[in-house]
Amino acid sequence: MSGTADREYVLGTHDEELARLGLQHRVWRPTALACWHRAGITVGSRVLDVGAGPGFAAVDLAEIVGPTGRVVAVELSSRFAAAGRQACAARGLTHVEFHELDLMQNELPAGGFDASWCRWVACFVPSPRALVAKVVAALRVGGVAVFHEYADYASWRFSPRLPLQEEFVQKVMASWRESGGEPDIALALPPLLAEAGCVVREVTPRVFTGRPRDHLWQWPATFLNVNLDRMRDLGQVTTEWAEAAWQEFRAAEANPDALVVTPLLLEIIAERVV
Ligand SMILES: C[S@@+](CC[C@H](N)C(=O)[O-])C[C@H]1O[C@@H](n2cnc3c(N)ncnc32)[C@H](O)[C@@H]1O
Repeated sequence: MSGTADREYVLGTHDEELARLGLQHRVWRPTALACWHRAGITVGSRVLDVGAGPGFAAVDLAEIVGPTGRVVAVELSSRFAAAGRQACAARGLTHVEFHELDLMQNELPAGGFDASWCRWVACFVPSPRALVAKVVAALRVGGVAVFHEYADYASWRFSPRLPLQEEFVQKVMASWRESGGEPDIALALPPLLAEAGCVVREVTPRVFTGRPRDHLWQWPATFLNVNLDRMRDLGQVTTEWAEAAWQEFRAAEANPDALVVTPLLLEIIAERVV
């Protein structure tokens, strides 16, 4: 997106990040669909998509709730919001709205929502407490707040272990924290949800493993590829270090017995009771 000012989160809103979010959604899609089903999201539901990115989940949610339902997607980046609007228009999904707003500064659109969906957003905001309070207040009593967030990002590992990849994870976590976020925010969410008037119905760990031949492998591969370049461009690592980390990963990829273990994520479903 070079050249245009956009309100960016720490991983950026450039083309590669937009494509990476699409691939990430495709890997996680079956898990998200099953989660939404268990949370009761169905035809006619009114759903708030919090920090919707380029709208990959919003499109799926809109198709599930249908024209008698409503999806309201809120997003910081105007570039991502525009991509989301375009994706919905291309599919004739007229019951989706994208609002460009800062979850930390702005009020959420009123809606008395039946459900909210918030994935990999609480980890980037300086006040998860304010985020949770706003999201819960946007639900009707009986509505459900659904979160997918990491609980132990450093549990992202390979077998055989890759020392530079593990160092990379530490650097990512440090830059995330320097920008005001907390990678392992899932651990803080259940008490914050209770404080905001919810009963936490389910907390389920989600971890995957995969081999280089699996589609899943492309998710960590893309994250490494895009973010090694970004860290190098931002001067956070040297070109030599980034190249060595990439070569270490490529060697693992050439080994059919290599295994990736994805970072521990918690799926949280909470119901607003007051
Ligand atoms: C990792 S992406 C996840 C996008 C989407 N939820 C998904 O699962 O594909 C994080 C998103 O949160 C958005 N975001 C971060 N801080 C925000 C804020 N303060 N207000 C609104 N959106 C924010 C970013 O712009 C980005 O689109």
